[in-house]
Amino acid sequence: MRQTLVAGNWKLNGSKESIKELLAGILDGMSEAKTDVAVCAPYIYLPLVDELLSGSKIGYGSESISEHDSGAFTGEISGSMLKDFNCQYAIVGHSERRSLFGEKDADTANKFAAARKYGLTPILCVGELLEEREAGITEEVVSRQLDAVIALEGIAALSDAVIAYEPVWAIGTGKTASPEQAQEVHAFIRAKIAKRDTAVAEKVQILYGGSVNGGNADELFAMEDIDGGLIGGASLKAEDFLAICKAG
Ligand code: 13P
Repeated sequence: MRQTLVAGNWKLNGSKESIKELLAGILDGMSEAKTDVAVCAPYIYLPLVDELLSGSKIGYGSESISEHDSGAFTGEISGSMLKDFNCQYAIVGHSERRSLFGEKDADTANKFAAARKYGLTPILCVGELLEEREAGITEEVVSRQLDAVIALEGIAALSDAVIAYEPVWAIGTGKTASPEQAQEVHAFIRAKIAKRDTAVAEKVQILYGGSVNGGNADELFAMEDIDGGLIGGASLKAEDFLAICKAG
């Protein structure tokens, strides 16, 4: 049995005050969590998150990472900097990075490699657009996104990573994939990995993301290949986030 993980992705949200309140609330309710729990925060708040969560059972990390180690890359944050603040995770390839900031499959693969190089667990996001689903090419898209990483880092690299399947049409729309729809893609991803390495396929956690909330988490996490969730909107309120951590 794989351990379930619920990770929050705060995106461009929060303030010192709201983060203190949110984390105090989550820490307060952690005894009832059935899943492993992590939060991914805007870079600037990571020192605060580190201070508030050190010694707790809650993992933490960033929402992106530079593919570079150091040098003339204005505005970037490297894996070694994230490690300096004890991060354990780095999200790579989120659909918002891909669609709004022009990150390509190859950039995501380089970021995945940068995270691993510094001992961070990459949370690799994959997922299709609505028009891609309607065109019947969901598996092709997800395959292409995974192949870029596998080609650069090798299949074994996925055993110290987390994959998040996030259909773009379900992100922030209130429109969740049905448990069956999500399971179908999760099973496809696991089978694709199993063709190369069954042990890696068995081990890798595949999270679902896209309008997960306290009301739908139970049935999503009950599916065989869904090992938890990557949560946007519902990760911003302790009560909502904890309701998801109590599922599964
Ligand atoms: P929502 O939970 O707000 O749909 O966002 C999902 C997401 O993008 C997590 O990375």
